[in-house]
Amino acid sequence: MRDAAAALAAEFAADVRRDLALTPKQLQSKYLYDQLGSSLFEAICRLPWYHITRAESRLLARHAAEIVEEFGGGTIVELGCGSGEKIVMLAEALQSRGGTARVHLIDISSQALEQTEERLTRLEHVSVVGHQSTYEEGLRRAAAARTTEDPVLVLLLGSNIGNFDTPAALDFLDRIRRTLRPGDLLLLGADLTKPEADLILAYDDPLGVTAAFNKNLLVRMNRELGADFELTRFAHRAAWTASEQRIEMHLVSLAVQRVTIAPSGVIVNFDAGEHIWTESSYKYDPEELQDMGATAGFMTLKQWIDPEAAFALTVFLA
Ligand SMILES: C[S@@+](CC[C@H](N)C(=O)[O-])C[C@H]1O[C@@H](n2cnc3c(N)ncnc32)[C@H](O)[C@@H]1O
Repeated sequence: MRDAAAALAAEFAADVRRDLALTPKQLQSKYLYDQLGSSLFEAICRLPWYHITRAESRLLARHAAEIVEEFGGGTIVELGCGSGEKIVMLAEALQSRGGTARVHLIDISSQALEQTEERLTRLEHVSVVGHQSTYEEGLRRAAAARTTEDPVLVLLLGSNIGNFDTPAALDFLDRIRRTLRPGDLLLLGADLTKPEADLILAYDDPLGVTAAFNKNLLVRMNRELGADFELTRFAHRAAWTASEQRIEMHLVSLAVQRVTIAPSGVIVNFDAGEHIWTESSYKYDPEELQDMGATAGFMTLKQWIDPEAAFALTVFLA
């Protein structure tokens, strides 16, 4: 675990150095999730304006039995488990049916892994292995650990897919499918297109929790990399880009300023109004999700929509 954390720390430093030199400046959204970032994300899930978690939980409450009936038990691989509430719903449905599961949890955040592992330990019919890693590395490890003919159910929930641009999302779905055998399943939770005003409220809430989540990345770079970002000189912004069907989160520089990351000898100059692009959240149409699955070699088995929040849960067959 310590080696994994050290490798991730080195990658963080190298990625920051590279991505702050891009135009526009960028930081990968996976870096939003340190300990505080994961806690702030959990708080976001409870905000009245962020509907994804409640919508997906409603769909799972209604359809978990059907999903585990299709799966039957075997190996569950969750990509980006977060606090783990949803896998628990599926594991409980599996328990009611008398099934068992080996679970591989993959998350870059140690806090997310610890929380989900703790929630699952009270369920005796599941055994759990945690991987603090990127999705790609975790998928590789879970596939390498596969020894039986038991079915695999991959979970990609909470609209995690929306953080990838379209070519990368297709590539990622294809990569998942290539780790699977015919008959395995992918459960994909994805947020649907909705009015811009609702999306802006979800990503720039009046309580400022999403702003804190975004600005925490500056705190993280100061603490872990020795940077000297001044928090009062940056503002959170959420923007809808209709042509791309995505919400972008930015950190906007409020002044002309220079930031240094002294230990790595990095100097970053900002114009007033210049931004760092920290996250994309793509929104979809239900048919588009089915098409994306098909392009990656999956067949759609079921798709359920939560009409209240416009959210889709799709079961794909490999
Ligand atoms: C938006 S949260 C969603 C969590 C959970 N799936 C849910 O539905 O509430 C994304 C989670 O995936 C993790 N994550 C984000 N990008 C990742 C990456 N590239 N590799 C591994 N984990 C990642 C984060 O640490 C976080 O726990």
